[in-house]
Amino acid sequence: MNFEVIQTDSRSKARAGRITTDHGVIETPIFMPVGTQGAVKAVHMAELQSEVGAQIILGNTYHLYLRPGVDTLERAGGLHRFNGWGGPILTDSGGFQVFSLADRRKLTAEGAEFRSHIDGSKHLFSPERVMDIERSIGADIIMAFDECCPGDADHAYAERSLKLTEQWLGRCIKRFKETEPRYGYHQSLFPIVQGCVYPDLRTRAAERVAEAGAEGNAIGGLSVGEPTEVMYEMIELVNAILPADKPRYLMGVGTPANILEAIERGVDMFDCIMPTRNGRNGQLFTARGTMNMRNRKWADDFSPIDPDGHCAVDLLHSRAYLHHLFRAEELLALQIASIHNLAFYLWLVGEARRHILAGDFTTWKAGMVKQLSERI
Ligand code: GUN
Repeated sequence: MNFEVIQTDSRSKARAGRITTDHGVIETPIFMPVGTQGAVKAVHMAELQSEVGAQIILGNTYHLYLRPGVDTLERAGGLHRFNGWGGPILTDSGGFQVFSLADRRKLTAEGAEFRSHIDGSKHLFSPERVMDIERSIGADIIMAFDECCPGDADHAYAERSLKLTEQWLGRCIKRFKETEPRYGYHQSLFPIVQGCVYPDLRTRAAERVAEAGAEGNAIGGLSVGEPTEVMYEMIELVNAILPADKPRYLMGVGTPANILEAIERGVDMFDCIMPTRNGRNGQLFTARGTMNMRNRKWADDFSPIDPDGHCAVDLLHSRAYLHHLFRAEELLALQIASIHNLAFYLWLVGEARRHILAGDFTTWKAGMVKQLSERI
């Protein structure tokens, strides 16, 4: 993998860059649609390419390990071959999922024991096991196994949790170096900075991650219940320590405004379920603010879904039609809303990139953040 910073903004930490993987080029800043189980919910691969403009998608180790399972993925020749997405893929390690199982998991010296949410069967994820599974899934970028600390954890808990994440990172790196990619193309391991909302812990975590010398680095444990301003402070603090010549990935964030604020603070990569999940619930994100398509006010509005939109569904269908589809519980409602929202997120990060390159990012961003907070 290669990362090149093409331009850094003169008035902020924002940068425009390019990641080259064996499955193609990713222009940063980038948003990565979430395909937890090997599919982006309600959006076909062809639409991800032609309508959404996705350059890289996510998969999740926890979900893919439980179903279809490592054996099936190996026999398929990896996830790219299995799901037909020819572009770059990133897999999250499953740390976030395992820890959200609360009463269904237990920590041991070896790793995290958990019960499947599907059939209650017992499993153990150790850092070594997770590396092996991510090798079998075969994503271009694979995430280290970490504990995502809750946003309201006290300092003592956060410190213990960080110690565990750091030990696990050492074990992940060791296993990663001892093993080879299974399918002939390169895989990059990204470590994750944890440390909750505590500046001393975040500083230490970022320093240790920077020392690991990985091909890219991630910031985790944010947007998990802490105030938004604290999240921005943590991003600034961590990005001042992480190497500038490697991509920085902010995990699981966020609203369109969160993404622009994080780009301004030097983040290059994002993923979030918000555009697809909120879309399935009827919420559309647009450059003029959000719309709730279940609202009766759209029943007689025959204007296009989003006149400024950038994918075919925005102009092809009316607001009244999409409102009707949601009311009638038609599956097409979920498809249209998901495609629109993902296309909007990809447009937004693409615009951010264009404005970084043009030298007017901060001015553009200030105006955009204001518009995004409107309710249409
Ligand atoms: N997704 C969102 N936040 C996190 C995190 O802290 N760790 C992992 N592994 N995935 C995430």
